[in-house]
Amino acid sequence: MTKPESVKLLQWVEIDSSALIHNIHQFRRLIGEKRKLLAMVKANAYGHGILEVSRIAVHAGVDWLGVHSLEEGILLRKQGLTCPILVVGYVLLDGLKEAVAHDLRLTVYNFETLNKLPAICRQLKKKAFLHVKVETGTFRQGIREEDVLSFMKKAKESPGLVLEGISSHFANIEDTTDHAYAQSQLQNFKKVLQELEQNKVDIPLKHMSCSASAILFPDTYFDMVRAGIGMYGLWPSKETFLSCRLQKREPLLLKPILSWKTRIAQVKKVPKGSFIGYGCTYRVSRETTLAVLPVGYYDGYDRRLTNSSYVLIKGKRAPLRGRIAMDFIMVDTTDVPELNLEDEVVLLGKYGDDGITADDLASLLGTINYEIVTRINPLIPRIIT
Ligand SMILES: Cc1ncc(COP(=O)(O)O)c(C=O)c1O
Repeated sequence: MTKPESVKLLQWVEIDSSALIHNIHQFRRLIGEKRKLLAMVKANAYGHGILEVSRIAVHAGVDWLGVHSLEEGILLRKQGLTCPILVVGYVLLDGLKEAVAHDLRLTVYNFETLNKLPAICRQLKKKAFLHVKVETGTFRQGIREEDVLSFMKKAKESPGLVLEGISSHFANIEDTTDHAYAQSQLQNFKKVLQELEQNKVDIPLKHMSCSASAILFPDTYFDMVRAGIGMYGLWPSKETFLSCRLQKREPLLLKPILSWKTRIAQVKKVPKGSFIGYGCTYRVSRETTLAVLPVGYYDGYDRRLTNSSYVLIKGKRAPLRGRIAMDFIMVDTTDVPELNLEDEVVLLGKYGDDGITADDLASLLGTINYEIVTRINPLIPRIIT
């Protein structure tokens, strides 16, 4: 949504559309015009807002959208998105009819799915477009390499089914600068493709690349690249950045697109020695000005950040004091001059020269930036700037 200037929100997520478009163009430049670019918008577009991001991404030249679930795919269709949409997660056998009815491309790896689809296609008078997922070493979704041919054969013989794609996914490309395992997966995938070619099975869209492999290994591009985290302006990991440097490649210029903001709900003076919040986990050692913020772990502000992170108010860092509650946090604003009720607060994002990044919060929590952004409550309004 776009926010009328006059409407104040208690809490909101801002999406910088020009930064999103910039990041998409970075990936487009990397992979060229001929290959397809799939924008991974699963998990509410990694927390950024699935509808808002999808619309901008398609407008910016993305060819495909990738979702996790049938529900996400239907949501996009109902909101008028007409581009090809690939469901990368599992669709229940009972959900296949809806998927075909909404022209969603299916990631498939179970014979049960293949068996169910022809009757649905007949009934709906529609084709089902399939992307066969191959197990190359991640041991998540996918069929074994030795089963690919028989799976393909079965799909080819089944009326209504179209073998549109073949895919795989890397297990160990973000976590390391040693890419031997990723290379072995790539070789496994190539071996399967070769076997298909030898057996004259032609699949138009071969794809296995995510952001990290797109940044590091052009020979993973095949016909389509599935970009997620990089499109949101975040590096897949420090190791990816380092690997990029080690390969003497110019790193992509990625711009984070998300800011998360709220407003001060109360400003109060707290006497020296007072305990703050549930569990009395923090005791102030001076008279303190405290700002109460209407954000908590329900919103996705992780409770384990208690007493360890900070927010930005008027460009000054205000550290968290006391335990993070379901709907509130308290911050020390003693050193922030001229504070007013309902002043804007940056929870995540930039303010002037300073900022709090998803990577900052992730390292405080011992997790990855993906988790920080995807867990921001989808009910918080996403505002396009
Ligand atoms: C199947 C699949 N493809 C592509 C991606 C995109 O990965 P990334 O966000 O690292 O670009 C994901 C994300 O988890 C995925 O599950």
